[in-house]
Amino acid sequence: MSTAPFIWGAGTAAFQIEGATRIDGRGESIWDRFAAGAGNVANGDTGDPACEHYFRWREDIDLMAELRLQGYRFSVSWPRVQPAGRGPVNPKGLDFYRRLAEGLRERGIQPLATLYHWDLPQALQDEGGWAQRDVVERYAEYARLVLDGLDGLVEDWITHNEPWVTSFLGYAQGIKAPGLRDWAAGVRAAHHALLAHGVVVRDFRAAGRAGRIGITLDLTVARPATQSAEDIAAAERLDGHHNRWFLDALLRGAYPGDMLELYERETGPLDAIAPGDLETIAQPLDFLGVNFYRPNLVAADVSPVLGLREVEQDAEVTAMDWPVVPEALTELLLRIKRDYGDLPLLITENGAAFQDRLDDGEVDDERRVAYLRAHIAAVERARAQGVDVRGYYVWSLLDNFEWEWGYEQRFGIVYVDYATQRRIPKSSALWYRDLIARRNGG
Ligand code: FCB
Repeated sequence: MSTAPFIWGAGTAAFQIEGATRIDGRGESIWDRFAAGAGNVANGDTGDPACEHYFRWREDIDLMAELRLQGYRFSVSWPRVQPAGRGPVNPKGLDFYRRLAEGLRERGIQPLATLYHWDLPQALQDEGGWAQRDVVERYAEYARLVLDGLDGLVEDWITHNEPWVTSFLGYAQGIKAPGLRDWAAGVRAAHHALLAHGVVVRDFRAAGRAGRIGITLDLTVARPATQSAEDIAAAERLDGHHNRWFLDALLRGAYPGDMLELYERETGPLDAIAPGDLETIAQPLDFLGVNFYRPNLVAADVSPVLGLREVEQDAEVTAMDWPVVPEALTELLLRIKRDYGDLPLLITENGAAFQDRLDDGEVDDERRVAYLRAHIAAVERARAQGVDVRGYYVWSLLDNFEWEWGYEQRFGIVYVDYATQRRIPKSSALWYRDLIARRNGG
């Protein structure tokens, strides 16, 4: 097992917790626009009030300290810092993150900041968003503003959160903002997100910045529903689409041949991929962030582009209907090491939504405790087999705006009573606090 210090933390994202979407010069994001559209988000929920974290951040970092968190992963809202996606910084927006990072450091909590967790300025979406190449330059400029602005306060940076979701759920499947259903745009968006990542990492090194930079991918374990050749091929396609497209580009400097062929056949010429792009994308990383929730079981099908459908698994499910299969996380981590070599990994998200009930001032979320316990054990099994995992960040610190599910799904280890904005640590938060103490010999 690696002897590098291990960080126990929790994560959130700007749009999911901050609220205050029209305050202090913040610009409109694609999630404001998407949530305002009829039928896009459950119950017509929007980014307000969320957890009002923009106003309550002090109370929230005090809570993190009480829970003994060693690390906190948050994201910076692009439209708060650079409202129109180009041009000068909005000082009030940047100050918010400066104060937050200072507060964390004062409490001995290590900040881990994500530059992009899905809230693109709407002004850039009006020009095509991630599907249009100019976004790469825009993102590099925004990243410079944030890296300069938080210089000396944040040492650990994540360029993107889950570019698969940004591009394919946002531009191809229409499930998330901006809600487009255009597979060719999805493939272009994925490429531009990766290219933007590469440019920012290259600039980070060229500027001689102190600290570490990586990217977070949502990775899956794709399993065939049967041992038929068709289902095995379907699982291989899902793996190519969800995992290898990103991992191979970032860590091998080449897109997987089977997926290039499939996308070309199904979506048309891949002319967004210009000579030299893959070299830019494959910058050496200080770490890879891994988000893991569940494996996928798939069967061959006539559905467009990927030709597969998801099949129900024989496992307990969470409120999202996601199967609970902790051993898949060990398998995934071992696979990353086997196929991509030794590279420091952070589990940047893992957690579960359940139907929590506030009962007599308490939330006894024993199923979440069981989920976390089993997944942490799965991470520790991978570490014992030599996988270099350096940290684990529970998703999420707080119940929050769960994208298209609105406030209906609660992922927090801390319950948020949205009517009063009271924070109530669930049993899982107290359990996690004690686990952190035990793992640190306390
Ligand atoms: C991930 C997202 C995160 C949260 C969890 C449940 O895909 O990165 O913001 O929504 O899922």
